[in-house]
Amino acid sequence: MSDAFVSLSDLTLSYGQTVAVPDLDLDIAEGELIALLGPSGCGKTTTMRAIAGLLTPTSGKIVIDGRDVTRTPANQRGIGLVFQSYALFPHLSAFENVAFGLRLKKLPEREIRAKTEAGLDTVGLAGFEKRKPAELSGGQQQRLALARSLVMEPKVLLLDEPLSNLDARLRLEMRTELQRVQKDTGVTMVFVTHDQSEALALADRIVLMKDGRIEQLGTPDELYARPATVFAADFMGFENIFSVNGMELVSETGRLPLGFEADCPKIAWRPAGVTVGEGPHSGKVVASSFAGDHREYVLETPLGQIKADAPIEIAEVPAGAVVSFDLPQSTSRALAA
Ligand SMILES: Nc1ncnc2c1ncn2[C@@H]1O[C@H](COP(=O)(O)OP(=O)(O)O)[C@@H](O)[C@H]1O
Ligand SMILES: [Mg+2]
Repeated sequence: MSDAFVSLSDLTLSYGQTVAVPDLDLDIAEGELIALLGPSGCGKTTTMRAIAGLLTPTSGKIVIDGRDVTRTPANQRGIGLVFQSYALFPHLSAFENVAFGLRLKKLPEREIRAKTEAGLDTVGLAGFEKRKPAELSGGQQQRLALARSLVMEPKVLLLDEPLSNLDARLRLEMRTELQRVQKDTGVTMVFVTHDQSEALALADRIVLMKDGRIEQLGTPDELYARPATVFAADFMGFENIFSVNGMELVSETGRLPLGFEADCPKIAWRPAGVTVGEGPHSGKVVASSFAGDHREYVLETPLGQIKADAPIEIAEVPAGAVVSFDLPQSTSRALAA
């Protein structure tokens, strides 16, 4: 608790009678990059709006840098916001877009110029000062929005799905860029996304949310390797999830012997964790697709369909053929319900 820079305690957030986020507790360290991850409607934006001061909590407390800001107006919290829509001023140059907030602060012109130039430089837009937003690419516009927030030297920078309007390649580029900017500036960042790969790539810690609650909180490594629940496992790419009953795997369609003891209600395998070509079980290949460094199979089995990735070195098993497979203990993940 004591070293938390942003602390949300017992936070309940509602729209009228509808509680969107009940009893949220979350501590964020200074300089940390936290990702709020979860499906649409799980309360990510609502949580961000509360931190920003755009939504008054029904109950609970928000502390930022040692100060209780629960009732503090948004513009006095020292928060920067970057959203999916960049909300840049179309008629202003890149320079003036970034300088805008500094001018409102009535800083001396020399200081405005220095900070604006440094901000543009930080996001790799030095030399683009005179361009209007329409003369910049989507990625550049997003970086401009980032610079505009950064020059205000916020205590916390909130980014709500900032990359979702960008195409796949730019999104990857911006990920790296955001990480670099965060390391360079040391600003505490809360980053919202529904994309698990984005959260895994960027965050120091991931807050996986479901129905307004924290389902699991951990480092990307932890969440990726050790999801604790069916929901978390599903979100992290464990596509084969079955119930365990004694020494058997059970699904709606049937059962299969489990080759080891598992003291858990559910168990899961990633497609890459399923062995294809050897093992005690057999399944019929219903689909096979080339995926570069591996081949993706869908097997029809007594448990229903199982997704399995096989190394590309293994000769392709054609659709319709029956193939041996294994669900090994070594790649399994035991889950709570
Ligand atoms: N202005 C609003 N009025 C009423 N309900 C809302 C409003 N905004 C969001 N909600 C509800 O609150 C829940 C959380 O929404 P939100 O925080 O926007 O989710 P996310 O950002 O994770 O997609 C959802 O059930 C949503 O329908
Ligand atoms: Mg949202």
